[in-house]
Amino acid sequence: MKTLDSAGHSIYFETGLAPMTDIINSEKYSKVFVFVDRNTAESCLPIFQEMLEDYTGFDLIETDPGEENKNIDFCIGIWKTLLDFEADRKCLMINLGGGVITDMGGFVASTYKRGIDFINIPTTLLSQVDASVGGKTGIDIDNVKNMVGTFSLPQAVFIETLFLKSLPERELLSGFAEMIKHGLIADANYFHQLKSSNYKEVSAEAIYRSVEIKNEVVTEDPYERGLRKILNYGHTIGHAVETYSLINDKRPLNHGEAIAVGMICEGFLSVKNNTLKEEELAEVTSYLLGLYPKYEIKTKSHEELIQFMQSDKKNEDGQIMFSLLNSIGSCAYNCRVTKQDILDSLNHFNKQFKA
Ligand code: GLY
Repeated sequence: MKTLDSAGHSIYFETGLAPMTDIINSEKYSKVFVFVDRNTAESCLPIFQEMLEDYTGFDLIETDPGEENKNIDFCIGIWKTLLDFEADRKCLMINLGGGVITDMGGFVASTYKRGIDFINIPTTLLSQVDASVGGKTGIDIDNVKNMVGTFSLPQAVFIETLFLKSLPERELLSGFAEMIKHGLIADANYFHQLKSSNYKEVSAEAIYRSVEIKNEVVTEDPYERGLRKILNYGHTIGHAVETYSLINDKRPLNHGEAIAVGMICEGFLSVKNNTLKEEELAEVTSYLLGLYPKYEIKTKSHEELIQFMQSDKKNEDGQIMFSLLNSIGSCAYNCRVTKQDILDSLNHFNKQFKA
């Protein structure tokens, strides 16, 4: 049971939801909405209700699950529902779900009537260690992730590992990729601890350490002017691979699987950048290849992947910008690399895949 301070709000860790009812009572909200998708309505809402004990004063807003539904059409539907409920500016939205729910719920809340309060209760490992913390909200445009969004801080975040009990292994592994990233960019000891642990039994202490690392970074640079870009390690190539896979593959990679690919490719670029040591890249590569499913980045996809990277939000002056490792546990940002280096990194990945 711990609480982390984060730029004017608190992240409650394994506290139960009593502090949330205190917030609701002290702020005297006109209405309280709980935003869920069909899956969290089934698997997480009963746990949420049980944790709230006798508090029942909320209306439910339910959406379809999945990243493909994190778009403006669904936002319009939710805004209209809020209007139908005659929601005013003094209402509260509680986002109960994974990254799609906290990203889209936060976006809807931060724009409805120019902004209403919201609380995040992340229910997947991925959203607990990443999406729900740090105030980024957003939706996708044409499958390109988080192209429209806001920086808007929640009133509070509640992280309860109880919600992870029913999470499929593939989902756990997806969130675990972000935890590995936290070790790689900020804490070598933590990386090695994760390496000797089993993702299927991910500990509350490890989740807390990830949230702490992310919170330290976003508290120092909430609007991603500089340091926060290190949280994008593995994401420039990873997001491109994820988008390509979503459009083209029969069984698309999920976020963590794509970021694992990105972390290997961007590890290669870190070596090219004369910072990461070859043996560190080998350690990271063999660890990630051992954990995540095999994937081939087809040569015919290279140009399309580069095009996706051209729309990355970190780019400046039309140049693709990377966050690259100085060593395991330390990361630099605003690194420029050539197109040829990017293509070499994709080929490097494929050589590992074929090995
Ligand atoms: N997911 C990266 C960030 O919140 O900045």
